[in-house]
Amino acid sequence: MNTEITSNIHYVGVNDRHKDIFEGLWPLPYGVSYNSYIINDEKIALVDTVEADFFPQYLDNIRQVIGDRQIDYIIVNHMEPDHSGSLALIKQYYPGARIVGNKKTFDMMRGYYHVGEDASEILEVKNGDTLSLGKHELQFVLIPMVHWPETMVTLDQTTHTLFAGDAFGCFGALNGAFVDSHMNCDIYWDEMRRYYSNIVGKYGVPVQQALKKLSGVQIDYICSTHGPVWHEYIERVMAEYNRLSLYNAEPGLVICYGSMYGNTERAAEVIARAASEAGVKNIVMHDVSRTNHSYILSDIFKYNAMVLGAPTYNNGLYPQMESLLSEIGGRNIKGRKLGIFGSCTWAGQAVKKIKEWNETTAKFELVGEPAEIKQSLSEETRKACEALGKAMAESIL
Ligand SMILES: Cc1cc2nc3c(=O)[nH]c(=O)nc-3n(C[C@H](O)[C@H](O)[C@H](O)COP(=O)(O)O)c2cc1C
Ligand SMILES: [Fe+2]
Ligand SMILES: [Fe+2]
Repeated sequence: MNTEITSNIHYVGVNDRHKDIFEGLWPLPYGVSYNSYIINDEKIALVDTVEADFFPQYLDNIRQVIGDRQIDYIIVNHMEPDHSGSLALIKQYYPGARIVGNKKTFDMMRGYYHVGEDASEILEVKNGDTLSLGKHELQFVLIPMVHWPETMVTLDQTTHTLFAGDAFGCFGALNGAFVDSHMNCDIYWDEMRRYYSNIVGKYGVPVQQALKKLSGVQIDYICSTHGPVWHEYIERVMAEYNRLSLYNAEPGLVICYGSMYGNTERAAEVIARAASEAGVKNIVMHDVSRTNHSYILSDIFKYNAMVLGAPTYNNGLYPQMESLLSEIGGRNIKGRKLGIFGSCTWAGQAVKKIKEWNETTAKFELVGEPAEIKQSLSEETRKACEALGKAMAESIL
């Protein structure tokens, strides 16, 4: 079986089609891959590992490439357990391997796995340091907060291959091939935006800093820790990460609503209809209790406007909307337009709460007049919803 990506660099990762929700939060309809790589040179380096559950397969993948030779270096670009989970086990099979990481890597490693406690088993590197494996000359570049403080990438200057950690990664297991030019990549583009918005979305500024550090560097292969190895689509992937980390979006409207008895939902329909009549073509609607927020966040990273509406619930905001607000607010999203609506039966809180959230947290551009309905749509509140939809359309187009 050929596992070679480019000269002496091999894919040894695994596919996870067992897990339903990543981080206990994000659905995985197409699964996810944990990518790991071997550089099979005079010295053998393993780049990142995989979740511990997949260890038997992982070990087999490694042995398929190196037989009974020993691993010299284990490079740890990122300590999140989806990549570091097999470290303690791999050290038992390859006790002579030196672990390569930066200062922050080892602080975490000792805490998680009690590995790297002995100075002789580690090689601590700083930004820009290099390591020769024989033919392959590696360089380490620290990219903190993409997506943890210890994150770094490893650049093989010989083959112009970037071992990128989570950067440029996406959801979706690998179905046979591992390099983009050997597969149909259709599903991965949406899965990349969803992965980015769900996992890395808060760290737009650090991602921009990382992209600047890498600009001007020749890169022929991007070996991320999730999803395809990028070769043919490097430009598209870089452009997508650049766009997402700048929070740039295309014209379109995401309408999110909560509703218990259908009245708030009807208001959402009126807003959508009015925006459509005023010419907006990209409109997506989500019931916040039914659509997993993973997909809502992905749409909010795609489109430049949103309308949020919910019932008043026990003198506060409908819980699923409250949770969505916290998820949006935690991602430092910039440059979005916001419309607000809400409902109540005796004393309204929903509109007020969403407004307060925007003033204190999201700071989006408020468009139109918030529409507040009482019990059900009246002639007057229907007009208010129509006006809101129209105002959103005017500000989008
Ligand atoms: C459990 C529960 C708590 C509610 N709490 C409030 C409240 O504190 N203040 C209020 O004015 N209406 C309250 N309501 C009424 C809802 O806000 C009202 O049913 C809703 O706005 C109508 O929209 P819907 O048909 O989309 O659910 C409550 C309703 C339920 C079921
Ligand atoms: Fe991560
Ligand atoms: Fe990851």
